[in-house]
Amino acid sequence: MPKVIIDDVEYEAKDGQTIIEVADEHGINIPRFCYHPGLTVAGNCRICLVEVEKAPKPMIACGTPVMDGMVVKTQSKLARWSRQGVMEFLLLNHPLDCPICDKAGECMLQWYSVEHGSGRSRLVGEKNHFDKRLDIGEHIILDQERCILCSRCVRFCDEITGTSELGIFQRSSDAVLNVVPGKRLDNHYSGCVTDICPVGALTLKEFRFGARVWFLEDTATICPGCSRGCNVNVSVRDNEIARLLPRTNTNVNDYWMCDTGRLIYQELSEPGRMETPQVHDAGTLQRAPWDRATHTVWKLLHQTAERYGHGAVAAVASAAATNEEIYLLRCLMNDLDGVEIAFPEHVQGEDDGILLNADRTPNRRGAAILCGDEAVDGSALQRIRVGIEGGQVRALLVMDEDLPALEGWADVPLARLDALVVMGAFGCPQLLQRAQAALPLAVWAEIDGTYVNFQGRVQRLRAAVRPAGEARPGWRVLADLRALAGHEERYQSARDVMDEMSATVPAFQDLTYPSIGEGGLPLPDAQPSGAPEAEPSPSGGVEESA
Ligand code: SF4
Ligand code: SF4
Ligand code: FES
Repeated sequence: MPKVIIDDVEYEAKDGQTIIEVADEHGINIPRFCYHPGLTVAGNCRICLVEVEKAPKPMIACGTPVMDGMVVKTQSKLARWSRQGVMEFLLLNHPLDCPICDKAGECMLQWYSVEHGSGRSRLVGEKNHFDKRLDIGEHIILDQERCILCSRCVRFCDEITGTSELGIFQRSSDAVLNVVPGKRLDNHYSGCVTDICPVGALTLKEFRFGARVWFLEDTATICPGCSRGCNVNVSVRDNEIARLLPRTNTNVNDYWMCDTGRLIYQELSEPGRMETPQVHDAGTLQRAPWDRATHTVWKLLHQTAERYGHGAVAAVASAAATNEEIYLLRCLMNDLDGVEIAFPEHVQGEDDGILLNADRTPNRRGAAILCGDEAVDGSALQRIRVGIEGGQVRALLVMDEDLPALEGWADVPLARLDALVVMGAFGCPQLLQRAQAALPLAVWAEIDGTYVNFQGRVQRLRAAVRPAGEARPGWRVLADLRALAGHEERYQSARDVMDEMSATVPAFQDLTYPSIGEGGLPLPDAQPSGAPEAEPSPSGGVEESA
């Protein structure tokens, strides 16, 4: 292994590593514009110039492999003078419109002009001018004047999506970035070019002028758009989500995310959000306090279970529920002597070969671990349907699923049920018409919990905004229902549920939120391990409170 000295400290490098890679591994900050660890090296911006002993001129750190005995100086007079020259060159024609630029505050050109620039320009003539607002794609605006021609976006479209919509045209000071004639930047990962553009040349229409970045608070969480579970940061201002950005996780999504996931937060502000608990009263659903609604739900389900016995209560739940929610749902069903829990499939097309998975549910794997394969492969759903038609299933709990929209469910006689309870974020009007109670649940951006992605990796979901209206996290609602079943109220948070799961579910053995960490953990055995043990049901029912 080659040994290299950087700024007077010796480091061991791996064969083939470049200076910038070794520096990054050891927290040594070398500036970069064109270098990106997810793309091939272009070596065109020159801002990473460092002094290498015995080399006749400064070398680019991103394109120079380390050699045994190499001595690198990142802060020498020559290195600093070289970078200052590069900064002056890059700023020569730059419009310097930071006050109206969306990238201000997170622009690498701003940072480096402070750290490495000279603070003056020797240009005496007029700057070059290019188009400042080109609509080049469904989500993307290009400001050609701000572009520093680093070619990151060009390489992204060549190497990651393979769609090659972008190119650098003309030469010398006339060189300009644009879409290839006849093309638009409409690939399904187009938003990623705005993440990797080091300046404000490429901006996302949906975020442009939405918020100054220094007002945003980021929460590290997971995209719920498909079973990949891309790691993301949710940026929030005043309890409103302003944007989603990919968070680097080379085990899951590298540095990227798809446009569907990037904009998934917009669904949260669509009409139809349930914000208050409701119970059936005088022929319709009426707003009710949580206590009363929870008691009503428990009474409906418990009385049905008491009357009709084993298997009379069933649940259809979304595999967008967290492991903590699914675990407590499974426990509740055990309390009610219910047999079937089903998680309908939501498959759209095929995997796109980059990140987007055809399975659009984020926690199908977790549901399979906690409730068994038949809960997720359609078998349980089919049995529930037949059970409703045949009168064996008498009470149904629907959690965040638009049941009538599922294939084969439009004509299922839900009117035959003695009890229909809806829990979720958005109420399906057809279900709400028939439901005796509806409980509003908080959604992915409002809750803590965990998902298991299609790789069998458990990852943490973190609350970024407060729940809408009176909505509550599903784990809490289910825990309250279980408390009415006579169980000790022992969960203060989703973390407490995970702690219990880690002691009772073999696949989650010894897992804790800290051990899952920021990047998630592969489960040692992500195969279905059966349902958690049933806890003894209390003998008596619980009366509805006044
Ligand atoms: S638009 Fe941005 S990413 Fe693309 S070449 Fe210009 S500066 Fe680089
Ligand atoms: S690939 Fe899936 S998880 Fe990743 S951003 Fe897209 S929808 Fe979200
Ligand atoms: S970062 Fe090395 S040449 Fe651009």
